[in-house]
Amino acid sequence: MEYRHQEVRHRLEKVGRAASMLHLDVLLLIYHFARNAKGDVLEIGPYIGGSTIAAAFGVRESGTHKKIISIEIGGRLKHFRIPSKNIFKDLKRNLGRFGVTEDVTLINGRSFDETTTSGVRQILAGRDVGLFIFDADSDVGRDLDCYGDLLSNDCWVVIDDYCGPAMKATPLRAQVDELVSAGRLVPFGYYGWGTWVGQWQPK
Ligand SMILES: C[S@@+](CC[C@H](N)C(=O)[O-])C[C@H]1O[C@@H](n2cnc3c(N)ncnc32)[C@H](O)[C@@H]1O
Repeated sequence: MEYRHQEVRHRLEKVGRAASMLHLDVLLLIYHFARNAKGDVLEIGPYIGGSTIAAAFGVRESGTHKKIISIEIGGRLKHFRIPSKNIFKDLKRNLGRFGVTEDVTLINGRSFDETTTSGVRQILAGRDVGLFIFDADSDVGRDLDCYGDLLSNDCWVVIDDYCGPAMKATPLRAQVDELVSAGRLVPFGYYGWGTWVGQWQPK
């Protein structure tokens, strides 16, 4: 609520209009967690960069050094408001446009491919992830299997399409609910258009 009356709201509204499918409240939460959580940021599925830019603003304004790694497979998408003929190219362009290119390490690949997972592990060797953002397909469980051991105790987790009309919402929701029942995820709340927010509990 406080951020709604601050200058960052206008900045993130601009980011949202140009480059995000996420609700402004979710961009504000990503900004907040990136700013306040201890540890690096790992994102899967930035599309053309809205969520990534929100995280980069937060990290920059935290006054501490945190890495941001964002994994995007690329391709094209006919989105009604922000379509892209070349997702990875538009992602790079938007990071430049909002002045955060140097703050983000982009990986162009599938989150679960060996080259991607080993690349992430190399970059994050000896470090902890304090914010994990998943806005890719319907298989968050697969990517938590790949990266869960890199997440800190109480790492903030943002998972889009937990509810809502998207086809992927049903299987994704089942996975999240199962992880909650198993005690691996602790729910905090639901924001925007159906984004799940909570925390990670290591085994
Ligand atoms: C819903 S969009 C992300 C929207 C973005 N977070 C925002 O702020 O608007 C999903 C993106 O995830 C990417 N994607 C889907 N599955 C992926 C995977 N396994 N690894 C990497 N990227 C993936 C798609 O190419 C697409 O750009």
